[in-house]
Amino acid sequence: MKALILVGGFGTRLRPLTLTLPKPLVEFANKPMILHQIEALVKAGVTDIVLAVNYRPEIMAAFMKKYEQEYKVNITFSIETEPLGTGGPLALAKDILAKDNDPFFVLNSDVICEFPFREMVDIHKSHGGEGTILVTKVEDPSKYGVVVNKEGSSQIERFVEKPTVYVSNKVNAGIYIFSTSVLDRIQPVPTSIEKEVFPAIAAAGKLHTMDLPGFWMDVGQPKDYLIGSGLYLTSLYQNEPERLATGPHISGFALIDSSAKIGKNCKIGPHVIVGPGVVIGDGVRLSKCVLLEGTVIRDHAWIQNSIIGWHSTVGKWARLEGATVLGDDVHVADEIYINGGCVLPHKSVSTNIAEPSIIM
Ligand code: GDD
Ligand code: MG
Repeated sequence: MKALILVGGFGTRLRPLTLTLPKPLVEFANKPMILHQIEALVKAGVTDIVLAVNYRPEIMAAFMKKYEQEYKVNITFSIETEPLGTGGPLALAKDILAKDNDPFFVLNSDVICEFPFREMVDIHKSHGGEGTILVTKVEDPSKYGVVVNKEGSSQIERFVEKPTVYVSNKVNAGIYIFSTSVLDRIQPVPTSIEKEVFPAIAAAGKLHTMDLPGFWMDVGQPKDYLIGSGLYLTSLYQNEPERLATGPHISGFALIDSSAKIGKNCKIGPHVIVGPGVVIGDGVRLSKCVLLEGTVIRDHAWIQNSIIGWHSTVGKWARLEGATVLGDDVHVADEIYINGGCVLPHKSVSTNIAEPSIIM
C-alpha cells in the first residue's frame, strides 16, 4: 500500500521551534512527529510513502535517508515549486499513488493518535465510496474541518472547513484513505482538499467517516502540543506502561529518556517528557512540560505547562509557566519568572516576563 504525508506549510503556529526544524521533524514524545506516522504506516503494510514538501526539502531529505533503511520503506519526495495546499500535492504525486488500484492513505503531518490504519482499509472497502475520513469529537470545532453525516449513516452530507458558526463537533482528524479515482478530481495546482475536494466528493455521496477510537490531537501549536503530550502519555499507560518512568520522584505519567540525568529531591509529573541528554539539577519541580534534547535545568527551577527547546538552560529558582516556549539554545538566568513567553532561538533572558509575549 501507499501513503502521502502532507509535510509542507511553514509551521508558523509552532514557532519558535519551527525556526530551527521543519514541523514534522520536531520531536513529540522524544521522536520526530513524522516518525510516529511512518512507523504506524509501515506496521499496517505500507511500502511506499510520498512526502509532499514545499519548505526546506533538503533538511527533510537528509533526515529521511536513514529511516528509509531502518523501516525498510520507499520514501519519495514530491517537491512543490509553489505551495499546492492540501489537495494539489495528491495530483503532483499521481504517478506513484495511482501505480496500482489499491486505495492509498493521506495524512496531515501534525496529527497524533493510535493510527488505526488497518481498520480504515476494512471500513473503506466495506462502504465502496471514494474516500474515508477519520473523525473525532472535540469541544471547540472552530479550528478544524467539521463533518455532518447523513442521518444514521457513515456517509458525509456536508464538510465545512473552519466553520464560523456552529455546525457539529465531529471534526476531520486529518487522516484519510482514498480510492485512486479521487485523483481524477484534482489538478496539480494550489487546491484545498478541505474546501474544494471534500465538498465535491460529499456531493456525489461518496465520502464517508470512520470514528477514531482513542485519543487524538493536532499538535501544531504549543498549547495543543502540551495537551497532546498528556494524552499520549495516558495512552502509553494503557498500552505500554513499562515505557513510563517510575520512582519516588515521579508523580503521574512521565516519559524520561534513559540518557537524562536527574538530581536529588525532584518532583516530576504529571505529563512530563524529558528528552535525551537532559540534565536536571536538585529539587526541580516539573509538571505538564516537555524538555527537548540537551536542555539543562538548574537546581530548584519550577517548570509547568511549557516547552523547553533543544540545548536551552533554565537557571536556579527560575519559574516558567503559561505555555512558555523556549526556542533552541535559549538561556534563562537564575530566579527569572516567565509567563507565556515565546523566546526565539539563541536569546538570553535576564529580566522577568510577566505577560505572554514574544522575545526576539
Ligand atoms: N505539501 C504541502 N503543501 N503541505 C501543506 C501545504 C502545502 O502547500 N499547506 C499545508 N500543508 C500541510 C501541513 O504541513 C499539515 O501537515 C497539513 O497540510 C494541514 O495543514 P495545517 O496548517 O496543519 O492545517 P490545519 O491544522 O489548520 O487544518 C487541517 O487539519 C485539521 C486537523 O488537524 C485541516 O485538514 C482540517 O480540516 C483538520 O480538521
Ligand atoms: Mg494542523
